[in-house]
Amino acid sequence: MAVIEVKNFTKSFGSKLVHRGVSFSVNQGECLGLIGGSGAGKSVILRSLIGLEKPDQGEIHIDGEEISRWTERQLVEIRKRVAYVFQNGALFDSMTVYDNLAYALREHTDLSEGEISDRIRQQLEEFGLQGNDFVYPSQLSGGMQKRVGLARSIILGPKVVLYDEPTAGLDPYNTKKIQDMILRLKDRGVTSVFVTHDMPSVYAVCDRVILLLNGQIEASGSIADLGKDPEGIMQRFINGIEGA
Ligand SMILES: Nc1ncnc2c1ncn2[C@@H]1O[C@H](COP(=O)(O)OP(=O)(O)OP(=O)(O)O)[C@@H](O)[C@H]1O
Ligand SMILES: [Mg+2]
Repeated sequence: MAVIEVKNFTKSFGSKLVHRGVSFSVNQGECLGLIGGSGAGKSVILRSLIGLEKPDQGEIHIDGEEISRWTERQLVEIRKRVAYVFQNGALFDSMTVYDNLAYALREHTDLSEGEISDRIRQQLEEFGLQGNDFVYPSQLSGGMQKRVGLARSIILGPKVVLYDEPTAGLDPYNTKKIQDMILRLKDRGVTSVFVTHDMPSVYAVCDRVILLLNGQIEASGSIADLGKDPEGIMQRFINGIEGA
């Protein structure tokens, strides 16, 4: 069953037509890689899936509900189920790691402070971040900030996770940690869209990949099939022969 379905997504900024009818779907438990040149419109699509942008035309279905015209108030419900991992981590700089993680739990659940504390310790351990509870984001390395960002995004136990370049600029160790977390979430049945320029991570975590080029999905295929058509647009893009 499709958890995410985008139909004929069309959007312009000023006179610039960025999306010319983009359609794709993501099944329950699947991780879909979304690749394409810089400025192709990947982040705009991802943001639209939680209502941070609206398409000019087209439909966005999440769990069978068409959300593209929803109000901010209605979108609050969707944002509990659909987590967004921002490229820069989007941490609150004035809050400790602990309070960054506690924020959504205090805001959106009835958990007691004791239960929140248990959940946070468990989450920090899972991400290899134990002992960093009372540290501020600026005191952490970029790789650790990204891990805290991911830990914070998924603290409510979302059904869907949207990743915007979660491994960009990371060393191999942190990249692997993020990949492992994504795979673990997949094992729990989480559905995801993974936007990236990092092809090794696409091979590591995605089931299928789609290529956004010239405002449209120009190619799609399973990870297992990548490379089978060396002359195809997908492979030419991956090899840097065909561009944005
Ligand atoms: N709020 C906005 N106002 C004006 N133009 C915008 C806005 N958001 C996005 N754009 C434009 O839409 C296009 C797509 O942007 P988007 O950020 O989705 O690209 P991207 O595929 O994520 O690129 P990258 O790989 O570099 O992150 C770009 O040309 C960008 O300048
Ligand atoms: Mg982007």
